[in-house]
Parts: sequence; structure tokens; C-alpha cells
Amino acid sequence: MKKIISKLIFLASIFVLAACGQSSGDNPVLKMATSADFPPFESRDTNGEFIGFDIDLANIIAEELGYKLEISDQNFDGLIGALQAKRVDMVLAGMSATEKRKKNVDFSKEYHRSGEMFLSLPENKVESLDGLKGKVVGVQLGTIQEEGANELSKEYGFEVKAVDNAAVLIQELLSNRVDVVYMDKQVAKGYMESQGLFGFDDPTTSSPGMAIAFPKGSDLVEKVNKVLEKLEENGKLQELKDKWNLDEVVIE
Ligand code: ARG
Repeated sequence: MKKIISKLIFLASIFVLAACGQSSGDNPVLKMATSADFPPFESRDTNGEFIGFDIDLANIIAEELGYKLEISDQNFDGLIGALQAKRVDMVLAGMSATEKRKKNVDFSKEYHRSGEMFLSLPENKVESLDGLKGKVVGVQLGTIQEEGANELSKEYGFEVKAVDNAAVLIQELLSNRVDVVYMDKQVAKGYMESQGLFGFDDPTTSSPGMAIAFPKGSDLVEKVNKVLEKLEENGKLQELKDKWNLDEVVIE
């Protein structure tokens, strides 16, 4: 009798294990959108695979919550619309959690904060806000830098040119179609190094930190915040920041 019972238990456990195995293959899909033009947060490697801090973070979140992550790439200025239309479940795109955006989407807690920089070619250096007078300053369409540049242009007398892709924006600078690029400091520092550009910090910025965006009312916000808290506590978030060389992050 004992033997039969233990055999039954054994069979039952195999059944449970098999069921678990199956369910992990059928995990629900978590649709994430990004704008993969923003290293070290998101870009594509030479094989076209998504890489970066946000990509790693999204993968960890999906795994923790039992989802299968599906990533789509689009222009930054369409991301809020994609969330509003519920075409995607979340956006990780180095997106700053501004009050204005909060009217249309919900944000997780902030996971990184950087400032802004002005980049120029070393042979055509612009070293201060006053030096921007009469110049063409390129920004990425739909970003807080576009908004910020429009504001600053009133005081410092420069022209703003918005381009829909951040990598194209750098090309515009390299080919002299804009004199200066105004962008996120963390991303700018990467381009300074890789392209040998000159840059100075915007002394006026006070941008909000980056956060994960969701459709309004999404029940993912709370779940993802819990994961973020866990990753802060167990040091995984810091490990990721170190991996992608992010500067000190201020989390409120
Ligand atoms: N942090 C800025 C913003 O939220 C720029 C983000 C741009 N992100 C990107 N993946 N191109 O407006």
C-alpha cells in the first residue's frame, strides 16, 4: 500500500511539473515599445537585436512577472500615442516622467535621472548658452529637449530643428546640417566619446527622471513598481547601471 501511495505521489508530482513547464511556455505576452536610437538605454546591435539598460530592465520585469516580452521599435514621438491606443502595454525609452505626459499615461517610479548637454563639432565649438546665438540647434522630436530648446531659444536667439530619430540627429551634426545638438546628458556623453564631439552641460535643466510608461489605469504600474523596489533592494538595479555605465542615479 505504502508503495502504491508513493508511486501515486511520484506520478502526481510529474504531472504538476509537466503542467508548470507547459504554462511557462504559454506565458502571456507583454508588449513593450521603445525608440531604439538612444544608447546606452536602447539601441540595436549589428545583428539587429535590441540592447541597452532599458532592454535588460524590461526583460527582468517580464521574467519576474511571468510574461514573455515582445519589443517593437518606433519613433519616440509616437510612443505616448501607442500607449493611449493600447497598442502596447508599456514603454521603456528613457522617457522622462513629466507632468504633461502624466495627463495621458501612467508612470512607474523613476529609475534614472540625468541632465542635458549641448554637443558641437570640435572645429566649430559652442561652449556656452550665449554662444548659441544665431545657431541651428537640433533636437529629437517629441522629447523634453525639444520643449526645453524652444524655451531657451527665446532667450538665447537660436533656431530649433526637430528630427524624429536621435541617431539621425547626430548625423545631422556630423554633416553640418545643424550646428549643435541638445540631448540627454547620458546619451550625449556616449556620442561625445564615439564621435569625438565637444559638449557642455546645460546649466538650466531640472528634468524629471526617467520612468516606465503605461496606458492610463494599467494594473501593471503597481506590479512593476514592486519589481523595481525589489531590484533596488537586492542591488540588481545598481548592477545593471554599472553594466551600462550609467552615472549616479537619483531615485526618489
Ligand atoms: N528623456 C527624454 C524625454 O523623455 C528623451 C528620451 C528619448 N528617448 C529615446 N529613446 N530616443 O523626452
